[in-house]
Amino acid sequence: RAKRPAGAPDKKLARPVTKVGVVGAGLMASQLALLFARRLEVPVVLTDIDQERVDKGVAYVHEEIDKLLLKGRVNQDKANRLKALVTGSLDKAAAFGDADFVIEAVFEEMGVKQQVFAEVEAVVPEHAILATNTSSLSVTEMAGKLKHPERVVGFHFFNPVAVLPLLEIVRAEQTDDASLATAFAVAKSLKKTAVLVKDAPAFVVNRILTRFLGEVLRSIDEGTPVEVADRALAPLGLPMSPIVLLELVGPAVAHHVAGTLNAAFPDRFGVSENLGRIVKAGKRNLYVYDSGKPELDPEVAALFET
Ligand code: 3HC
Repeated sequence: RAKRPAGAPDKKLARPVTKVGVVGAGLMASQLALLFARRLEVPVVLTDIDQERVDKGVAYVHEEIDKLLLKGRVNQDKANRLKALVTGSLDKAAAFGDADFVIEAVFEEMGVKQQVFAEVEAVVPEHAILATNTSSLSVTEMAGKLKHPERVVGFHFFNPVAVLPLLEIVRAEQTDDASLATAFAVAKSLKKTAVLVKDAPAFVVNRILTRFLGEVLRSIDEGTPVEVADRALAPLGLPMSPIVLLELVGPAVAHHVAGTLNAAFPDRFGVSENLGRIVKAGKRNLYVYDSGKPELDPEVAALFET
């Protein structure tokens, strides 16, 4: 018999999930919408602040379903069903009125996330779970102003969501056993390896990852050429070099997580100057892929060398 994950409550407490809401229609949110539709086979509604973003999110999901069809991972019938399951809406009340599980993946700012949760709580049924995909913020604080904070859980995925198996489930101080049990049951349906982590700054993975990327960035700040720092660990056989990984995480997210950790543990975490410059310059992509092989964008290289 499969062992219950460490810290997971009795699965009999889990409530069924028959409709999912996703707040945000950016890349992370859209990946989540696809995963939930594919694994739970329930309706999933994406919302965002304007129609263009919503349409872009739904279009991404449809394109990814077409790729799965081309690869033979789903048949035509399933592709059609999945496309019909994922819809977009600007009207949270209509979209989430019968949702049992709503996950937010909006901008990483406490005030924004608290506001989103307050809006969602006003329209969802009493039993609905409110999940956050935050990378580093306190889930306890995020839940703090709600009427029913006991239904909030952290549900932190890793990029690319479709491929990486790990899911950090965060128990806030207020989270009750039924909500946590539901979170573990959903994780199982999503076929993710769920681990329960403490509601500590950046949880576990991002704390370690930020230390790793932070040392690479610091060595560049201190004068190591970026190519040398980026290739130094190649003999270890990591799936990606540090700067490619930084691009995947997103410079703005990495910078934000470093800021959270710096505020919590100033003696152990710094915030790299060159990363700050890259974020300020609005650089999302660090590499160009024209030759098929990633080459550092010359503008990014110049920012690293400033
Ligand atoms: N979206 C969807 N699928 C993707 C993808 C993406 N962005 N990137 C790759 N894939 C799929 C490919 O389509 C392929 O699927 P297939 O087997 O069905 O054809 C599969 O992944 C393997 O891809 P590739 O063969 O092209 O390449 P690799 O074998 O090198 O794997 C990788 C790519 C899985 C991205 C691997 O390089 C890797 O694991 N890198 C490390 C990623 C990592 O550490 N992520 C964590 C970041 S931290 C985070 O997200 C937390 C946040 O809070 C900051």
